[in-house]
Amino acid sequence: MKKSIDLPSYLDQSEEVKARFERLKSREVILEVKNLCKDYKTGKGSVTALKNVNFKTHRREFVCVIGPSGCGKSTLIRILAGLESHTSGDVLLDGNPVTGPGRDRGMVFQGYTLFPWLTVKKNVMFGLEMNNMSETQAASEAALWLDMIGLEKFANSYPHELSGGMKQRVAIARALVNQPRILLMDEPFGALDAQSRSKMQSHLLEIWRNVDITVLFITHDLDEAIFLADRILVLKAHPGEVQELIEVPVPRPRGAMQFNSPEFLATKARLDELIHPPVVEQDVEIEVKPHMIRFTNVEDNVE
Ligand SMILES: Nc1ncnc2c1ncn2[C@@H]1O[C@H](COP(=O)(O)OP(=O)(O)OP(=O)(O)O)[C@@H](O)[C@H]1O
Ligand SMILES: [Mg+2]
Repeated sequence: MKKSIDLPSYLDQSEEVKARFERLKSREVILEVKNLCKDYKTGKGSVTALKNVNFKTHRREFVCVIGPSGCGKSTLIRILAGLESHTSGDVLLDGNPVTGPGRDRGMVFQGYTLFPWLTVKKNVMFGLEMNNMSETQAASEAALWLDMIGLEKFANSYPHELSGGMKQRVAIARALVNQPRILLMDEPFGALDAQSRSKMQSHLLEIWRNVDITVLFITHDLDEAIFLADRILVLKAHPGEVQELIEVPVPRPRGAMQFNSPEFLATKARLDELIHPPVVEQDVEIEVKPHMIRFTNVEDNVE
């Protein structure tokens, strides 16, 4: 059984962390979501995916969104990206309403979205060339980003020659090369094995330390959210409402040794409580019913 008695409260912050949050909140607001609601109309009626969602992200803030499957995380990020309409409320980027997709938002999804017929370098150059930048200038911009993600040696490789983690690094470079105001990431490391995933988390923090970018990152993984985020937006399902916006009390820079620190474990216990509320176990007799499928290779000693 987990011992939470010895842990501090996840609300306790060291002076250093407190000061960091004060600085963060004094920075300009990049994204503001106000009373956001989304109903999907389906053949069987209406599904409320998001209800009265409110939050702000500040410049260079890293916000993770977490919540059970179906709570509206992807709906939220698609609305922010301008790929989905909302039913009511407001989404403001730098104070201006979001009405459709735009270069001011970079996107990285779970599925690998690189163009398979273009080299790594050409994938990164693509958005710039679409925006009428000369090939020479686009190539030199792309080279800077390939250097930043540590893949300069793979500039002329094709996506199928890269590992999953490398592909996602290229996807991040491709999103950042357009100098967006915010990077929107929907479970970008969800398809990676545990080791590549943890490497990618460190890579992403390293990139974020060196780039003036605000990040909104969706994940199912509690450790990932705590390791990456300044604040964690916890949604609940049906309808998708904000349960809590948690300020992560773990100091930066972050490292693997912090996974067992009291403040990390206290935050994880709180997230666990919100996402997996305790189930009251009932005293139910386990019985074999006549309609159950029975396996003939198992000794039938249940009666
Ligand atoms: N195009 C759609 N039409 C109708 N209902 C939809 C549509 N897209 C999503 N939904 C519903 O909206 C709710 C939220 O879905 P969404 O995909 O945003 O959840 P999610 O939190 O991203 O889930 P997951 O963690 O499984 O990715 C769900 O009940 C889903 O069935
Ligand atoms: Mg989703």
